[in-house]
Amino acid sequence: MLKFLAVVAFAVVTVAANEPVYKTKTFNAKLDHFSFTSNATFPLRYLINDTYWNPSSTVAPIFFYTGNEGDITMFAENSGLVWEFAPHFEALIVFAEHRYYGESLPFGNLSFTDPKYSGYLSSSQALADYIDLIAELKIAYPKKQKHHPTPVIAFGGSYGGMLSAWIRMKYPGVITGALAASAPIWQFTNMTSCDAFNRVTTSAYGESANQGCVDTIKKSWSAIDRLGANDAGRAWLTQTFKPCKPISGKSNVKDLKDWLTDMWVNLAMVNYPYPANFLAPLPGHPVREVCKRMVTDVSDDKKLLLGIFEGATLYFNGTGTLKCMDFDSQGTQDLGTLGWDYQSCTEMVMPMCDRGDTMFEKVAWDIKTVSDNCYAQFKVRPNVNYVRNLYGGKEISASSNIIFSNGLLDPWSSGGVLNNVSDTSIAVILPGGAHHIDLRASNPLDPPSVKQARKFYRSIFKQWVNTVRNEYEN
Ligand SMILES: *[C@@H]1O[C@H](CO)[C@@H](O)[C@H](O)[C@H]1NC(C)=O
Ligand SMILES: *[C@@H]1O[C@H](CO)[C@@H](O)[C@H](O)[C@H]1NC(C)=O
Ligand SMILES: *[C@@H]1O[C@H](CO)[C@@H](O)[C@H](O)[C@H]1NC(C)=O
Ligand SMILES: *[C@@H]1O[C@H](CO)[C@@H](O)[C@H](O)[C@H]1NC(C)=O
Ligand SMILES: *[C@@H]1O[C@H](CO)[C@@H](O)[C@H](O)[C@H]1NC(C)=O
Ligand SMILES: *[C@@H]1O[C@H](CO)[C@@H](O)[C@H](O)[C@H]1NC(C)=O
Repeated sequence: MLKFLAVVAFAVVTVAANEPVYKTKTFNAKLDHFSFTSNATFPLRYLINDTYWNPSSTVAPIFFYTGNEGDITMFAENSGLVWEFAPHFEALIVFAEHRYYGESLPFGNLSFTDPKYSGYLSSSQALADYIDLIAELKIAYPKKQKHHPTPVIAFGGSYGGMLSAWIRMKYPGVITGALAASAPIWQFTNMTSCDAFNRVTTSAYGESANQGCVDTIKKSWSAIDRLGANDAGRAWLTQTFKPCKPISGKSNVKDLKDWLTDMWVNLAMVNYPYPANFLAPLPGHPVREVCKRMVTDVSDDKKLLLGIFEGATLYFNGTGTLKCMDFDSQGTQDLGTLGWDYQSCTEMVMPMCDRGDTMFEKVAWDIKTVSDNCYAQFKVRPNVNYVRNLYGGKEISASSNIIFSNGLLDPWSSGGVLNNVSDTSIAVILPGGAHHIDLRASNPLDPPSVKQARKFYRSIFKQWVNTVRNEYEN
């Protein structure tokens, strides 16, 4: 189970057609914001574009992307909305890298080798980095009219969306409002049922493709088990799936199933209506396309699995250049899987299970095993209530100026905020939308819900920046 959490690409890696242009800078972030024992700092990377910034405008904001678990350039490339909105708001654009990811490693390649190095990785330390960076930016980019406040709008998708919501909750005097796209802030113990994620994923396959595809995937697990039970079957699996390491034992059979499980989830996350590059180029509606390749005779194990392999080929080998299938990887090099493993072992403990009524295999959530694995890997143990205590769990009716958006085809919508929580912390539901599709560059093939949402965001952001000015001037 731990492996499942660790390998699932939590954020989406795709490259936009319009590469954004920015300057790369670093600032000295405090290693520890929550004690006065050391003045140590480390260089935190951020990307900045000041082309649209208008210091004479009383309402021009900073658009601040709260970086998540990966190389920040990837998020800049996949958040076209920020770039499209910036000229209209005369905004300063900033994408800040999350500590312990990308190039922002406080202790270089030692960062994950010992708790004395890794222990400074937490969401709260990251938020405090962002607050200090914003203070520096306000000095470097002052308003023409002295003392005029600069509104700050936080943006983020996935874990980055969780951070953008939380930074508004924790620092309302610095952050004016937040767009939290596909942010599963409730994917935690006792907030969401642990089987919800698999159930949403399964219904997304039913809706995007058909029930036949769901049944084929469901039947594939026992087919793999039957073939994986003996040498001849394992040789056939090796020949068919072309793994980098032969499927020679039970544990390799499990690796194959884990790898496919992660692939089905990732495919659902990037199930956009238009072609997008996900390492290998994917067509529009990739779930439907993959399922089309798999319509097959499910009464025959080998035929069934040949269909599954065809599906995996579309996902991993779209370029036709892949030498072998790497069961240890989903090909998402830009995501910091080590950092996310660590966070999943400390505060970001998101229970996942399956009761056997989805297209996935039945599996229990076993916190003891998770905890023991965490201790073996990092010498830490998870604190399942940490996030709820720190950020309020479901008791967030005191929050304001947050947009929680969720695509209903996105597996992570299972832990998202789907109801308005206060007058100005509101939920936007995107039928037909996959993982933070609304944060991506606009596309003619966007579902109507996404087109409408973008208009709505623009009017809300205008209200937010005007409120900051009006409060100052009155
Ligand atoms: C900001 O982005 C725009 C649009 O891509 C680009 O033309 C401009 O050169 C960029 N400015 C900086 C300072 O990178
Ligand atoms: C931190 O820096 C301040 C100001 O330079 C200095 O006075 C103080 O001794 C430093 N504290 C530590 C713990 O090094
Ligand atoms: C860690 O980084 C240092 C300095 O960049 C390098 O000399 C060393 O070989 C690296 N060690 C490992 C294990 O990668
Ligand atoms: C979750 O809720 C149940 C029932 O209220 C309770 O027994 C359990 O201790 C809670 N779990 C945690 C980790 O708080
Ligand atoms: C990837 O596609 C190419 C071209 O069709 C094929 O030759 C190769 O065997 C495929 N690789 C894998 C691992 O299936
Ligand atoms: C949430 O609030 C928005 C904006 O006020 C409103 O348009 C929408 O209808 C509300 N949704 C629900 C479910 O009440």
